[in-house]
Amino acid sequence: MKPIIAPSLLSADFNNLSNEIEMLNKSNADWIHLDVMDGVFVPNISFGIPVIKSIREISKKPLDTHLMIVQPERYIKTFKEAGSDMLTVHWEACTHLHRTIAQIKEEDMLAGVALNPHTPVSGLEDIIQDVDLVLIMSVNPGFGGQKFIPRSLHRISQLREIIERNKSNALIEVDGGVNTDNIADIIRAGADAVVAGNAIFKAENCEDIITQLKQA
Ligand code: DX5
Ligand code: ZN
Repeated sequence: MKPIIAPSLLSADFNNLSNEIEMLNKSNADWIHLDVMDGVFVPNISFGIPVIKSIREISKKPLDTHLMIVQPERYIKTFKEAGSDMLTVHWEACTHLHRTIAQIKEEDMLAGVALNPHTPVSGLEDIIQDVDLVLIMSVNPGFGGQKFIPRSLHRISQLREIIERNKSNALIEVDGGVNTDNIADIIRAGADAVVAGNAIFKAENCEDIITQLKQA
């Protein structure tokens, strides 16, 4: 099975966003990964609802929205209306994760949970049958262009074991520092999908890199 490739728009040229989306539409990318940051859960502020609505109008690919915000449960409907197909909330930001996951599914979106690098994957044991996707952060969230944390490979294998044992259908997506050099190891460890920002958008030929990642 070829990996799912989700380019992260955070590294795109914001002066040229519609061309970047057109490029992704033509490419072998599977999803478009959208990083929403609130300046509280993470130190950085990125983009929000009006930008996602505009992207929805021209994107032919499903929108994979990664909420790095506190109290994400307040915005589930809003992100659905903006056009998200998948909505991922952070484990560390949810007091009632089980309820939040159920609410995301009620809105007919795929429900994801993201884990910071220090959060034990074993904490997912009691929710793994309810989620559609687990986003393993392989950097500390907040910025594009950081270095992949090697320990993440072990975390991906641990999570794969939990998924198999619980007969869950959850996909494993890996986010942060993914490139053409390390994707093979990431897939071998058990990932189904990868996010890539800088590796794609800072390359001379973005479409080529997407195809290379897809062939990992
Ligand atoms: C980090 C974001 C990532 C980031 C990935 O907080 O969640 O999606 O944009 O960018 P790269 O691939 O450059 O690490
Ligand atoms: Zn992300």
